[in-house]
Amino acid sequence: MSYTRLTSELALELQGICANSIASGEELLPYGRDYTEDLSFTPDIVLFPENTQQVSQIAKFCNQHLLPLTCRGAGTGLSGGCLPVEGGVVMSLEKMNRILKMDAVNYQAIVEPGVINETLQQAVQELGMFYPPDPASKGSCTLGGNVAHSSGGPRCVKYGTTRDYILNLEVVLANGDVIHTGANVLKNSTGYNLTQLMIGSEGTLGIVTAITVKLLPYPPYRSLLLATFKSASEACACVSSIFQAGVQPSAIEFMDRKGVALSVRHQNIAFQQGDEAAYLLIEVDGFEESELMPQSEKVYEALEKHGVIDVLLAEDSETREKFWKIRRSIGEVVKQHSIYKEEDTVVTRSYLPDLYEGVLKLSEQYGFEAVCYGHAGDGNLHVNILKTNMSDEQWQNQLPEAIREIFKMCKQYGGTISGEHGIGLVQKSYMDIVMTEAHFEIMRGIKRSFDPNMILNPGKIFA
Ligand code: MLT
Ligand code: ZN
Repeated sequence: MSYTRLTSELALELQGICANSIASGEELLPYGRDYTEDLSFTPDIVLFPENTQQVSQIAKFCNQHLLPLTCRGAGTGLSGGCLPVEGGVVMSLEKMNRILKMDAVNYQAIVEPGVINETLQQAVQELGMFYPPDPASKGSCTLGGNVAHSSGGPRCVKYGTTRDYILNLEVVLANGDVIHTGANVLKNSTGYNLTQLMIGSEGTLGIVTAITVKLLPYPPYRSLLLATFKSASEACACVSSIFQAGVQPSAIEFMDRKGVALSVRHQNIAFQQGDEAAYLLIEVDGFEESELMPQSEKVYEALEKHGVIDVLLAEDSETREKFWKIRRSIGEVVKQHSIYKEEDTVVTRSYLPDLYEGVLKLSEQYGFEAVCYGHAGDGNLHVNILKTNMSDEQWQNQLPEAIREIFKMCKQYGGTISGEHGIGLVQKSYMDIVMTEAHFEIMRGIKRSFDPNMILNPGKIFA
């Protein structure tokens, strides 16, 4: 695809549509990066629209002039989904950050894409409502970004991912037309489900400008346990046993020893490690305090069957916060610690021990260091591969082979190559492991119908 280079005349016309912009200099640089590795692509201009009409005019202009248009939220993505690989126009939706409506009768809210995930969670909680999807970056990631990747988080094991909470989207199409993908209702059997198609499409099909989310009543009681295990595989195996015991935890997170060690060291958290190899952080929640104990007892029984060493109950909010801080920060501290690549593996839950052991074997075979943690109840293991002692040659040429092996294992164990971080730029060369030419042909056809000039987020998901 050959795009038009942004001339100063075109830049001026764009600034006529949206004056809030950056058109030169170092200030452009942060808009060419996200949280993915050390990747960086400089855009030619960054625009900060404040309403749907401006977004529509910008899209129409880019479409007419064949300018690449890449949208972004807070830039916390982990697959390079918002990187402007072809340069051109970056549209940051950070100024569209208003909660437009909170409807405590129908348990819905309408938000703009730049609203921070946690801001929505807190706002609805004040009215007794609950928005469950809670990525590790909930304090900074935006709901637009969450929609783009169908983001998850610890609570998704009980409540589902972003995908399960979107009723309707206002979307600006590549040609500037504005559509609603659905309706603000809990059921909808009206033609193709464009809402679900748009979720997870990483800004390649349209630009989301308003989001209607479904809310739940807020469950005010929760109990949190941190279980330590001698064997990481036993910790993984215990996950299925907890469900088999008849419990539906509101979080069940796996952390290996290294991940916890890095998290507590980098953040100066007082936490003593013994000889445990891994941890499970297990939360149960409810509407009545009395619901918690029977669930916790069943969890204890399952833990004992899998050689648990110790179970620490977080008795106060300080301990609860500490345990969650250790878990939620692992991704960030690992990335500060070393050059890394992160794989967002996901398998059928009962295969989690096989996946973990397989990753360990591959790490020995290829000589990489792995830090593993993640949403064990979803079978979703984040495998952070650290460069540590690998040579540049091994890192560049042999590691992709190792990653390919990891992803083939995911497929073999009923899973796929991304559970919640998306494909973006860095995983697209592995898509052939889980998709056939028939899939690609269907996806290319969808892309052509939404964006015939291929201006939206070029170079992502598939070739
Ligand atoms: C997490 O679960 O911590 C997030 O997905 C972020 C990460 O893995 O870096
Ligand atoms: Zn995660």
